[in-house]
Amino acid sequence: MCGIIAAASTRNVGKLLVQGLHKMEYRGYDSAGIALHQNESIAHLRALGKVQLLENKMIAEKPKSKLGIAHTRWATHGEPSEINAHPHKSKDSVYIVHNGIIENYVDLRESLIGYGYEFSSQTDSELIAHLLDLHMNEGNSMLDAMYLAKEKLEGAYAIAAIDIKDNTNLVVARNKSPLLIGLGTDEMFAASDPLAIAQMTNDFIFLEDGDVAEISANSYKIFDSSKKEVTREVTHIDISNQATSKGDYRHFMEKEIYEQPEAVSNTIDGRIGGEDVLDNIFGLGSSDLFAKVKRIQIVACGTSLHAGRVAANWFSSIAELPCQIDYASEYRYRNPHVDDDSLIITISQSGETADTLAALSYAKEKNYLASLAICNVPTSSLARESDFVLFTNAGPEIGVASTKAFTTQLAALMLLALSLAKSKDLNPKLRGRITNALRLLPEIISESLLQKEQIVAIAPSIANKDNALFLGRGIFYPIAKEGALKLKEISYIHAEAYPAGELKHGPLALIDENMPVIALAPESEIAEKLISNLEEVKARGGTLYVFADPSVKMDVKAGELVHMPKCDFFLTPIVYNIPLQILSYEVALLRGTDIDQPRNLAKSVTVE
Ligand code: G6P
Repeated sequence: MCGIIAAASTRNVGKLLVQGLHKMEYRGYDSAGIALHQNESIAHLRALGKVQLLENKMIAEKPKSKLGIAHTRWATHGEPSEINAHPHKSKDSVYIVHNGIIENYVDLRESLIGYGYEFSSQTDSELIAHLLDLHMNEGNSMLDAMYLAKEKLEGAYAIAAIDIKDNTNLVVARNKSPLLIGLGTDEMFAASDPLAIAQMTNDFIFLEDGDVAEISANSYKIFDSSKKEVTREVTHIDISNQATSKGDYRHFMEKEIYEQPEAVSNTIDGRIGGEDVLDNIFGLGSSDLFAKVKRIQIVACGTSLHAGRVAANWFSSIAELPCQIDYASEYRYRNPHVDDDSLIITISQSGETADTLAALSYAKEKNYLASLAICNVPTSSLARESDFVLFTNAGPEIGVASTKAFTTQLAALMLLALSLAKSKDLNPKLRGRITNALRLLPEIISESLLQKEQIVAIAPSIANKDNALFLGRGIFYPIAKEGALKLKEISYIHAEAYPAGELKHGPLALIDENMPVIALAPESEIAEKLISNLEEVKARGGTLYVFADPSVKMDVKAGELVHMPKCDFFLTPIVYNIPLQILSYEVALLRGTDIDQPRNLAKSVTVE
């Protein structure tokens, strides 16, 4: 999704800004641009495609500047093109970059055309530059003009702006779209993502909705929505270079797959003790609150939603709680009825997904007992806006397709199921069994990573197909869904998931030699039924790739049977997900796709 970086410094900032754009490439984008103040003029460079193309233009033109703004764009209004790329400008004087969506852009655009402004792009963002220019021409400073513009703008935005008449200050504004200030020595930054400026500073100020700030190389001033100057807390975060570089791996996704044993250890460490989960790991008072919970509502998007679907089963089996789960983008629009003593749970790697944040804000108006977030980013909006939080501690996830974030979300959600059961004094023996199994989980994940060779051998027979079907039953159905999502995200192969028992009610019609079927067959009470479902596929000429418990001895003929390491039944979904990640990765590698930044996708989707 779009990324903003801005800098005011006593040194040249062009290189720093482009470096920052590179660091945000993982978020997904289609074009990039920069505006650099050069006293008499503003250098304005944009490129469709990779940041490298913008960098090539910079190398050719060598603009020198101590004040600038830059952007990676993920198209919402208007096709990906150089003309639609940010920064946008008004009359060669005001330049802006914007993340988010201006919902009333049609009306505002018309009214600005009425004032004589000409639009060169199809974006909703360009009008912000004209609106600022309009108010500055009335004699207002950029800061005052930003407040006047804010009165008119509806929707979500993070904005950074510079003005030809001021070579010292830049102005930023935030409303429902992440924005932070980075404090350097003799330089200040603003960015939508701390990773963009982590090489320049470890001290960040996370702006709040409604905030506007004026930033120069040696000072910054923050004003709240009522234009009162405010002090916001400085947060120190060490983001190591190791965490944000690929090392010897070919892709971030590959690195993140193989980091999973350590990531899961980090999720569990310090949260279990003896035969149980520790008290209050979701925040002070959480254990007491859990004792009162009678129902659970989960909202999330994408991969995080799949983690929620697995957890819904755990909440029911381990904590004996009914659980409803919704796509965050749908939840608000189905008129949800909230029973007394319900807990709302949001799950989000980034903690900045606009749909999930909007669902949480809607839920806060309802009579939930409390809100709880499972999140990977401590400084995120979701973490700040929830009553209770558990951080997954997976470290930065850069690959757009989520891997270690998913695995650690599952580990965290298991801790939640155990905590709820503990607070209700339920199933102590089962809790002890699962707690011990959790300790062994990193090792079992390491074992499952060793199946790489067998999976590499399967990959070519899937890479040359256009479709694939994933099958799982019960708690493995969401894992099949996640497997299908991973394959389509990074290899662009159309993939669907079904609970295996549903096969005969429709999808069986699709089975032929061109439809590989990937199935999950763990040891379970319905294992035999699943095998019968797979026989139905085999009988119709389908090729089966079965990830199974060692006790499963089926003859898959043309396909492949991969035996999985054994572990406690409740944790098997976590382990069976690993080979599906490796399979998607190896297939995408053969198809030569852009694995870390798949076409059209974004890492953190900050628009609804
Ligand atoms: C985007 C990403 C997915 C992710 C989803 C939810 O669509 O491409 O990988 O699962 O957002 O993101 P979140 O940060 O809320 O988990």
